[in-house]
Parts: sequence; C-alpha cells; structure tokens
Amino acid sequence: MDDTVDQHAEDVTAPREIRRLLVADVLAERVVERLRVVCPDLEARVVPEGSLSNEDLAWADAYTGFQLPENIEGSSIVWVHAMMAGVDALVPVLRLLPRPVLLTRTVGDMPRKIGLYVLTHVLGHAHHLAEYRQQQAVRQWQRLDPPRMRGAVATVLGTGEIGAGVAGALRGVGFETCGVNRSGHERPAFSRTAAASDPDAVPPDSAVLVNTLPLTPETENSIGMSVFSRLQDALFINVGRGATVALDDLHTALKLGHLRHAVLDVLPIEPPPANAWVWDHPQVTLTPHVAAITDAEDVVRALSAALEDLRAGRVPGNAVDLARGY
Ligand code: GLV
Repeated sequence: MDDTVDQHAEDVTAPREIRRLLVADVLAERVVERLRVVCPDLEARVVPEGSLSNEDLAWADAYTGFQLPENIEGSSIVWVHAMMAGVDALVPVLRLLPRPVLLTRTVGDMPRKIGLYVLTHVLGHAHHLAEYRQQQAVRQWQRLDPPRMRGAVATVLGTGEIGAGVAGALRGVGFETCGVNRSGHERPAFSRTAAASDPDAVPPDSAVLVNTLPLTPETENSIGMSVFSRLQDALFINVGRGATVALDDLHTALKLGHLRHAVLDVLPIEPPPANAWVWDHPQVTLTPHVAAITDAEDVVRALSAALEDLRAGRVPGNAVDLARGY
C-alpha cells in the first residue's frame, strides 16, 4: 500500500525511440501547444477520444489521454502516458495486450493540491465552521472546544507522493503524522510508519484518517470496520479511490461513533446513485472528485520528464508497475 513505484521500476519495459505521440481528451490542444515548445522533436497530434483512425494507429508510437483508445490493440503504440495519477482503469487493459506497453502517469502538483484540500477540511472541522453556521441560523452564541492540532495524530493510508503531500500539509499545522504502507518502510514526511499487514497499524488515537491508496485488487474494499473500529470520533477523508472503502462499513462506523464525519472526494460510482445514503447523511461531505484536477502543465512536465528518461535509456521515475497496478 504505497503509491510509489520506484522499487519495482526495473521490471518495466522501456522503449527508447519515441517520436510520434497522439494526444486525446480535454487537455489535448493545450498539451500539444506546450509540447511543441518543450519537446520540439516530438511530433504530437490531437486525436478524438474513443477509436483511433487506421492512419493514426499505424503512425503513432505513443499516446496520452485520460482514457485509452478503444482499439489500442491494433496499434503500434509502445508507451501510454496517463494524464491522471490514478491508473486503475488503464492497467487491466494494458496487461491484456499481447505486447508490452510502458505506462507512465501524471502526479505533477497533485501532492500539494491534495494536501491543501485535506487541510481545508481538517481546519474547517477543527474550527467548527458547520456548527457555527448552524448556531448563527438560530441566533445562538456559544463557544465550542478550541481547535487542537498540535501533537494530535493524523494517519495517512498510502505513503507515496500524494500521501507525503498530505502528511506535509498536516505536519505544517502541528499534527504528528503516521503513515501506513505495504512494508512499513520509513518515509520522510511521516513521524512514523507501519505496515498495512500490522493489525495495530492505525493508531487508535488518530483524530484524522486520510486515504490516498490507489485502487488495485488488493486495496479494493480494504478500508472497512477492521480499520474504522479502531478509532473514536475521528474525521475520515478519502482522496484515494472510492472503491478502496467498504461504504456499508463506513455507514456503520459513523453510526457507532468511530467516525464523526466523512469527507468523500471519490466514490465507487461517481456520481453516486440518486438513492445512495451518502447524499443526505448529515455526517458526510461530498465533493465531485476535485481534490486535484490535472492541468496541461502537470501533463507536459510529467510527459517530458518521462521522455527524457526513455531517450537516456532509463525507466521513467513515473512508470507504473503493471503487475502491481500502480
Ligand atoms: C484523479 O483522480 C487522478 O487520478 O489524477
């Protein structure tokens, strides 16, 4: 449980000769414009989402977008760069292709953006913003407990780049940060770390629990009562992937007081079905998958760094291990 890939990067196949790139999705025009400046010897073409034309299929050796082209199998594409950080939708398709395709991803400024998103919600709760609005509505003037963050424990599931961004933001306001990853290896942004397999990995005194995990068969539904029942009155924030959380367990944990509130930026189905309990539960805050939105500059920076690595014969630092899924 760690969204870094470096220790497995040597398993990845790295194509060297990359000259022709197809660029799809909403950021395509801006990405191509910037690439002309940053990587002038890379030919880049904007293509529509969905299926590629036969001519594009035969022309390109690389592709970037938020989704894969439907007919990637018939192409000569050897490198796909994901415009986002979470690659769970792409990995199963690429794994089934008969030839190796390198997958890299965009992290860019997301650790900082997601750190700020988490901090915003943590501070809002610590300062009782919602309760004071309610008091104001009924002309009530009553002080609630002052915010207490210095020395309080915040636990972050996943200690990769995004987890570290979250930990850095929380540390900045005084939290002691505890990270949970696969092996329990230490990471600089965290006061301490523990292995996910350790049943005591999540400290019971965590005031805040943040999930940054990628979605893989191993993490799917992995955050449930075994984690929540360790806590008392904690704030839970999900900025990883929705399907890593067992939503029924989350509901129970709110009811039993293990959690006092859940902030969900990601859900197993987005948007959730109209009758889903999360819409109108008073202890749930929903945001529409906005904690970090990729911009063209993030994509270009990640893509050009990967290209530089490839041309130098190195496996890019942002390569995804397809076997591991992140
Ligand atoms: C957003 O969810 C991303 O994966 O970048």
